[in-house]
Amino acid sequence: MSKSLQAIRGMNDILPEQTPLWRYFEGTVAGLLDNYGYRQIRMPIVEFTELFKRSIGEVTDIVEKEMYTFEDRNGDSLTLRPEGTAACVRAALEHGITGGGQVQKLWYMGPMFRHERPQKGRYRQFHQIGLEVFNLEGPDIDAELIILTWRLWAALGIRDAVTLELNSLGTSESRGRYREALVEFLTARLDQLDEDSQRRLKTNPLRVLDTKDANTQAALVGAPQLADYLDDDSRTHFEGLKARLDAVGIPYVINPKLVRGLDYYSKTVFEWVTDKLGSQGTVCAGGRYDGLVEQMGGKPTPGVGFAMGIERLILLLETLDKVPESIARQVDVYLCAFGEAAELAGLALSERLRDALPSLRLQVNAGAGSFKSQFKKADKSGALYALILGDDEMAAQTVGVKPLRGQGEQQNIAWDALAEHLATHVAQG
Ligand code: HAM
Repeated sequence: MSKSLQAIRGMNDILPEQTPLWRYFEGTVAGLLDNYGYRQIRMPIVEFTELFKRSIGEVTDIVEKEMYTFEDRNGDSLTLRPEGTAACVRAALEHGITGGGQVQKLWYMGPMFRHERPQKGRYRQFHQIGLEVFNLEGPDIDAELIILTWRLWAALGIRDAVTLELNSLGTSESRGRYREALVEFLTARLDQLDEDSQRRLKTNPLRVLDTKDANTQAALVGAPQLADYLDDDSRTHFEGLKARLDAVGIPYVINPKLVRGLDYYSKTVFEWVTDKLGSQGTVCAGGRYDGLVEQMGGKPTPGVGFAMGIERLILLLETLDKVPESIARQVDVYLCAFGEAAELAGLALSERLRDALPSLRLQVNAGAGSFKSQFKKADKSGALYALILGDDEMAAQTVGVKPLRGQGEQQNIAWDALAEHLATHVAQG
């Protein structure tokens, strides 16, 4: 195929074989969020570039080198959203839904775009499910966000494979004091830092903490600790969160180097990580961003949220063999009809079946065909039963119900009794 007709590198088609697992995953999360009282919001995929610069931060990797930014026909600079928080805050502000201290518990789902180096678990178009809560400032809601993900991991059967890492970044004032101390410490060791960290020391020094470079890691030994610079309020908040996680029995690891790649965080930050996916092990991440709404022109409004990467969680389900068998079957019964009269009768019968059994997944053969070819298609569809309408069945006003997965002999069932027969047999299959 010519190059122009291929998908863009790092942007994947999700093929019909894969969509049942996606729908299972998305449905499981959506059901859980309903249970916890979150409401869905849908934002556009494209926003003004300025929105992301102002919220995520000018000197973050995302804004510096990963955004898909282009000029609109009327000269506006637009960007494909690299994440959902900025747009969610923008929408909340624009529609005044957080005004007067109104609590909002929102969630969203959809594609995000970052021009990163594609590899397993890291793509240029990827999908997130994200949550954002506004106007609740206590650690109780931070805890709720973590508790509900903990419940999700159990529902998906992956609880044993993920670990919760926690940190507190404090307020911007306390972080500012810490930043000064860190810069002083690292400036004295400048020649031991890798090039990227030397640059970050000037632009975003806290990011030096999560360097992968061994020499820089060695230079960080004995560096000032963020925890020692926390203000009392942040410290109490963090203790409150930990107490709640302890009360529910959720294990966690305090990771003082967890600083996150977006600038808007304050106080709580957390990541759920797995060691089962290689280097792209963070499946869900977030934190508190109490200053963001004000920074974007609104009244001071506490906020906290997280987003999970759907591709990574799907990969994890597959890696751990946690794909439920029940989602593999997409067709319950496949109707084969031979001859024109049988085809017409079959069509009418199918519609009656759909009325009687609204959840039945019934595929009607299209394109006619011989016995052999229709059976082949029935089998390939994955159906439990083939329904057969030929001359004999037409004469007797019955349907042959032929098990395709080895569950007994073919039975001939009267048209009027077919719905009832399938209701019990398909449910059992
Ligand atoms: P983030 O850490 O940039 O946070 O992304 C959240 C999650 O999205 C990651 O943990 C990962 O699972 C997934 N993800 C990120 N980039 C990629 C990629 N290139 N390919 C595949 N998956 C990826 C945020 O986006 C924040 N908006 C989260 C948040 C919400 N904080 C507060 N509220």
